Amino acid sequence: MFKDFPLFPRAASTVADQIDTFYFFMVGVSGVLTLGVVCSMIYFALKYRRRHEDEEVSQEEAPMWLELVWTITPFFILMVMFTWGAWLFFDVNRPPAHALDVYVTGKQWMWKFQHVGGQREINNLHVPVGRPVRLIMASEDVIHSFFVPEFRVHTDVLPSRYTYNWFEATKPGKYHLFCSEYCGTEHSRMIGWVYVMEPEDYQIWLSGGVQGSPADEGKKLFASLTCNTCHTDSATARGPVLTGLFGRTRPLQNGQSVLVDENYLRESILNPSEKIAAGFQPLMPTFQGQVNEEQLVQLIAYIKTLTPPAGGGVPTGAQQPAGSVAPAQPPDGAAANAPPASGEQEPQ
Ligand code: CUA
Repeated sequence: MFKDFPLFPRAASTVADQIDTFYFFMVGVSGVLTLGVVCSMIYFALKYRRRHEDEEVSQEEAPMWLELVWTITPFFILMVMFTWGAWLFFDVNRPPAHALDVYVTGKQWMWKFQHVGGQREINNLHVPVGRPVRLIMASEDVIHSFFVPEFRVHTDVLPSRYTYNWFEATKPGKYHLFCSEYCGTEHSRMIGWVYVMEPEDYQIWLSGGVQGSPADEGKKLFASLTCNTCHTDSATARGPVLTGLFGRTRPLQNGQSVLVDENYLRESILNPSEKIAAGFQPLMPTFQGQVNEEQLVQLIAYIKTLTPPAGGGVPTGAQQPAGSVAPAQPPDGAAANAPPASGEQEPQ
């Protein structure tokens, strides 16, 4: 019976057990404290109740040692919660370096995924078991929230910048994906599935439905938007050289410096005058409204490929076997999860 009504969702990622342990600890401490307070309240109410009509009220001061004990003891218990929670937060929020990148776009009312190899999906996400997957997420419109209870993964997806999360699934299977931020009429239908596959099945799945990888698409966009007229590899060009730029810290015109990450590239494309690179003029026009979220991701994916990964990371866009076979059958045989063609309408 309890199997059908689990108190908690299954634990299917590497961090799930740690998060559950911490959660149970907090529930336990809160339970013990609540019980202590309520029990002593009832005990004192009975013991010191008014026994007859004309009984005088007497005032008693608690001794100093008692005051100290009930102030200092909870302080240390709460510091344990804080330290453990902060440690867990930092641990859980740092993706491992060799994680597989997946670009996530939330929009009213669907989840869109782009894999570095070029596969695209809507409301379905296929990932391999036992491999960290990093999500780079942004919203096309309002705030959404990416929630996979079984992985204990929950992060808001914002229209203004990229947010990140990661997970490493531990069991093959099919897991619920929710939007957990009210985002309009069909919020409750903004749901999907994460398919966790054995590595061999995942490789077969990867080989089906390949379109241009985000980096390849980004390269085409880079040319069609004529970014390449200013961003050449010449140090005397009008725009900064992009080769080798990603992941570096670069000086700005205003004397500050900035780490070149996805968010900085995004800001520089949409709002180029915000952070001018040292030695350059604010000449670049904004591309706000000219590129949608998916195209932004493609441009950024392309710019990332201009920097070779340091120390054995997985080169972005370089792990896709060439050739196109018929879409693979996933392990659970569900029909609706072959990589769909991205034929849906894009608002411009
Ligand atoms: Cu998207 Cu709720």
